[in-house]
Amino acid sequence: MGKLHQMIERNSIVLVLMITIVASIGGIIEIAPLFTIQNTVEKVEGMRVYTPLELAGRDIYVREGCYACHSQMIRKLKTDVDRYGHYSLAAESMYDRPFQWGSKRTGPDLARIGGRRSDEWHVRHLKEPRKVVKGSLMPGYAFLADTDIDPQRIALSIKALQWAGDPYTDEMVKEAAKDAIRQASPDMDDAESIKERYGEKVQIRDFDGNPARVTEMDAMVAYLQMLGTLVDTKALRAAVKAQRQAAESKPAGKAKEVAAR
Ligand code: HEC
Repeated sequence: MGKLHQMIERNSIVLVLMITIVASIGGIIEIAPLFTIQNTVEKVEGMRVYTPLELAGRDIYVREGCYACHSQMIRKLKTDVDRYGHYSLAAESMYDRPFQWGSKRTGPDLARIGGRRSDEWHVRHLKEPRKVVKGSLMPGYAFLADTDIDPQRIALSIKALQWAGDPYTDEMVKEAAKDAIRQASPDMDDAESIKERYGEKVQIRDFDGNPARVTEMDAMVAYLQMLGTLVDTKALRAAVKAQRQAAESKPAGKAKEVAAR
C-alpha cells in the first residue's frame, strides 16, 4: 500500500487522474437522480405565466435594480412568516427569468406585497417615498408615470419567453401587445377578454390613476399588486394540516387493529 501511494504521489498524471475519479463520484451521486425526474419544481395550483403588463412591470423592476434593496423570498423562519406571510414556494418563481430571491433587504421583502396596499399608495410611494413613509431610504421613481409602455417590445418579450419554454399559447403571443393595453384600460370593450387567456383572477384596472395613458407606472403597480397572490396560501396551509393529521391518525389506527386482534 505504501509503495502504491508513493507511486501515485510522485506521478502527477496518475495523481490528477485519481483525484478526478474520486471527485466525480460525489458529483454523480448529486446529479444522477435529477436525470430521472421530469421537473424539480412541484406543480402548484394557481400559478400562471405573467400577463404582458405584469411582465413589463417585472422588466422595469429588474431594469431599475429594485432587487438591490428588496428580496422576493420569504424564508421558513418564524420572523419572516410572521411579517410577510406564507413562506415562498419554488413554483412561485418558476416563471421568473432571472429569479428575484435576493440576499439583501434594505427595504422589506416584496414576495407577497400584492393586495396589501392600494394602487394610490403605491403610486404616491413610488413617486416620492418620503412623502408616504417618513425617513424612507428608497429613491423616487416619478418618471415611471411619465413614460409610456412599448406594447410591441413587450410582445417580443412574450414571444422570447414562449421560445424559451414558458407555456404562453400562440394566442397569448398574438394578443400580447393589445393585452398590455387592455389590462390597464377597463373601459375598452374587449378588456375582459384577457381573462380568457390568463384566468379570472387577472386584475384589470387603471393602476396609475391616469386613464389617458398606459405608463410604466401602470405596469409596475400591476406587477406589485399580483406578487404572491396567485397561489391560495390559505388553502395550501389547510391541505398541509389535513395531510399531517391524516399521517398522525394512521399509526393510531394500526395500533387499534393490533389491539383488536
Ligand atoms: C436604496 C434601496 C431601495 C431601492 C433601490 C428600492 N427600494 Fe423600495 N424600499 C426601500 C426601503 C428602505 C423601504 C421601506 C421604507 C418605505 O416604505 O419607503 C422600501 C419600501 C418599498 C415598498 C413598500 C413595502 C411595504 O411592505 O411597505 C415597495 C412596494 C417598494 N419599496 C417597491 C420598490 C420598487 C418597485 C423599487 C424599484 C423601482 C424599489 N422599491 C427600489 C428601499 C429601496
